[in-house]
Amino acid sequence: MSNARKIISPTPEKMAETVAAAIFELARAAIAARGQFVIALAGGSTPAQTYAVLAREWTPSAAGAQWFVFFSDERHVPTGDPASNYAMAQRCLLSRVSIPAEQVYAVRPNATAALAAAAYQAQLKDFFGGAAPIFDLILLGLGEDGHTASLFPGAAALAETTAGVVGTPPGRLPPPVDRITFTLPLINLSRAVFFLVCGAGKAGIVRTVLQANPAPVDCPAAGVQPRHGILRFYLDQAAASG
Ligand code: 6PG
Repeated sequence: MSNARKIISPTPEKMAETVAAAIFELARAAIAARGQFVIALAGGSTPAQTYAVLAREWTPSAAGAQWFVFFSDERHVPTGDPASNYAMAQRCLLSRVSIPAEQVYAVRPNATAALAAAAYQAQLKDFFGGAAPIFDLILLGLGEDGHTASLFPGAAALAETTAGVVGTPPGRLPPPVDRITFTLPLINLSRAVFFLVCGAGKAGIVRTVLQANPAPVDCPAAGVQPRHGILRFYLDQAAASG
């Protein structure tokens, strides 16, 4: 993965501080350039520490009124459900900082994940006013099987070439619920993509993604190659030990 940059921190806590500083810096630059900072938050557990650091170090200079928050994937569960990525972000960050609630776009559940995804895609289209949905920053996690967001190995969603958001069946990840996920075409439009990866259990997949050049169908994270944006892997020492 040629254009990826690795930033290695000694511990998960130091990684969270490094990522938070980079996010504040991107936000400052985006707001200076375009008057807004459009970010998609990642789910799972790793980002929680980064969100807590953002909340801890939040000051009025963060200019929360210019932040617009989406989610790079979501479990198809009720919005407040503790299993939702929204609930984790709400607990760790959004309930503790000055981002207007109407500028946080949760994925709303629907009769099916596909319908929820179509509604979220419509929200994106409405937000971006029909222009290309170019995020300033998309945060992603990395699963040991190479999944990212809710793009699982072998999933039909990996063949998507036009839609930015799709519904997808559950992967092997708990909870066993359908999901809504950003697609590779949407992710690869972003001005910046940060992977947040911690733990020795991820060392093998990090090595595979960064060195083995796997096919995205087998390792979806390898399909994240922003066309014009920056790509960074934020790792703790253990995840980088491969
Ligand atoms: C989710 C995430 C998922 C996560 C990876 C890594 O909904 O769970 O979208 O893709 O980012 O599974 O999870 P950890 O960071 O908890 O290892």
